[in-house]
Amino acid sequence: MKRMAVLTSGGDCSGMNAAIRAVVRYGLGHGIDVIGIQKGYQGLIDRHYDKMVSHSVSNTIQRGGTFLQSARCLEMHEDAGLELAAANLRGLGVQGLVVIGGGGSLRGAQALAGKGVPVVGIPASIDNDIPLTDMSLGVDTALNNIVHAVDCLKDTASSHDRAFVVETMGRDCGYLAVAAAIACGAEYALIPEKAYDIEAICESLQRRYREGRSNSILMVAEGAASAQEIADIIHDRVGYETRIMVLGHYQRGGTPTTFDRILGSRFGVEAVEALLAGEQGKMVALRAGGLTRVSLDEVIEQGIRTIDNSMLRLAETLEL
Ligand code: F6P
Repeated sequence: MKRMAVLTSGGDCSGMNAAIRAVVRYGLGHGIDVIGIQKGYQGLIDRHYDKMVSHSVSNTIQRGGTFLQSARCLEMHEDAGLELAAANLRGLGVQGLVVIGGGGSLRGAQALAGKGVPVVGIPASIDNDIPLTDMSLGVDTALNNIVHAVDCLKDTASSHDRAFVVETMGRDCGYLAVAAAIACGAEYALIPEKAYDIEAICESLQRRYREGRSNSILMVAEGAASAQEIADIIHDRVGYETRIMVLGHYQRGGTPTTFDRILGSRFGVEAVEALLAGEQGKMVALRAGGLTRVSLDEVIEQGIRTIDNSMLRLAETLEL
């Protein structure tokens, strides 16, 4: 392989820069030209790219977001867009492409593989909803952001005998809400994967209120309900003074945790190794602490990774 390219696509997350850096440095170290494509697939279609040198990635590992920038690109859903993207890569002499992104971006990578582009994906999405990998890039940083915010909230909530409903990201997967509930000692986690009984929740909050508990925290994944909707119900039925915090895009940014810097670096090197070994249509994955390569077809076929039952059980066991 003489030349390869790297792009970040879809929602950004912390740790993407570490992954780009590893792809660039490991590639250059193996005598491969590396092209950095700006703004994801949109930049590929619009021919917006730069040749990377070693210092292109200096001082990036500690920064959140993606210095290559990202975008959601509708043209990649159409055959003409895919053809153009593949032709642009061929025109550039690119013999391997690393795509760093979430479910939609990996679907784009699979479609490009179908057009003959040697491609390897790196799972990156704070939702932790990508199948066949224990963790995606960005999850750990997002979780730490949430935990920090909720720890702050608990101080003020308990000073005022308040309930707080905290809305996390997670359209189809409640991982962030459940993991944060465990880590923050929240009372409930409402998630898209599991029906919840708001009456039972209100009754148990009522009991807590009567027992004189100083605060109650409910985590709500955005795909399960809106924080305001749940807060209104609690306020009306329980009498708890209830406030909300919608964490939104705050969760996606900020200094990457050590875990995400190392995971991004490992994923980046593994992706280049996969391309050097002639593998294509693959995604690098973390399984039981080790790295492996799985088929993109299988990842896409499995759809959304939902929360593990063991995590859910742990959260439920500790909700009192
Ligand atoms: O997929 C990652 C994610 O952060 C989701 O949790 C969230 O629903 C979505 O992206 C938000 O997308 P956007 O940044 O385009 O508003």
